[in-house]
Amino acid sequence: MKHSPLLQAKNLRYSFNEAGIPTHVLKDVSMELLPGEITSIVGPSGCGKSTLLYLLGLLDRPDSGDIFLHEKDVLKCDDQTRTVLRNHKLGFVFQFHFLIKELSVLDNVALPMRKAGHSATTSHKKARNVLDKFGLLDKASRFPHKLSGGEQQRVAIARAIINSPSLILADEPTGNLDSENSKIVYSVLSKLATEENISVLLVTHNIELAQSCNRVIRMRDGRIIE
Ligand SMILES: Nc1ncnc2c1ncn2[C@@H]1O[C@H](COP(=O)(O)OP(=O)(O)OP(=O)(O)O)[C@@H](O)[C@H]1O
Ligand SMILES: [Mg+2]
Repeated sequence: MKHSPLLQAKNLRYSFNEAGIPTHVLKDVSMELLPGEITSIVGPSGCGKSTLLYLLGLLDRPDSGDIFLHEKDVLKCDDQTRTVLRNHKLGFVFQFHFLIKELSVLDNVALPMRKAGHSATTSHKKARNVLDKFGLLDKASRFPHKLSGGEQQRVAIARAIINSPSLILADEPTGNLDSENSKIVYSVLSKLATEENISVLLVTHNIELAQSCNRVIRMRDGRIIE
């Protein structure tokens, strides 16, 4: 069965302005992501990978180009609609997990549901389900600093999927981990793609992980080169 793309980006251009002088960071980037696929982005430091993820994550707008999410032209949406889309359709995982240290693992994972307006009971129930799936249920009442780096990153992934997103954007999620934990985090992400039909876009400097993905996008100097 041929799937229609979950996300399409067309001719994205983006520049930073410093003292009125533009630096062109994305020069003409077009790409598609399919549901159920894990795709990696690789390329030298500074080539624009994180910037691209920011735009695809609706955290910023390109200077020109188009982004379609579920065939919806997201650049034409107002900020409120974009926030709703971001909270419901997208999950983010970063190199440093950004768990809230004052909250238990359970509360960290439940937070996006609480923000979306669900009750504590409903959010905690779903958070327990997700933690169970990741083999972390016994850590639910712990605080993040009492977990290993790999466990913390798995909690961050659990938090990213609690609202059942259709796309996970992961910026070097294993950048801070040893090779064993990197493999575990990768296998959690690739399982989410296969079993839950989520699309995963993974920026990584780890060539072995990149090549394990369904597809590798190579960037250089603000462009996709293959
Ligand atoms: N706030 C900013 N103001 C000006 N230039 C910026 C800003 N943020 C990033 N840049 C520049 O934009 C370019 C792309 O940065 P980006 O963070 O997307 O690179 P990257 O491919 O993710 O690199 P890395 O692998 O090191 O994370 C770099 O040249 C960077 O210096
Ligand atoms: Mg980066």
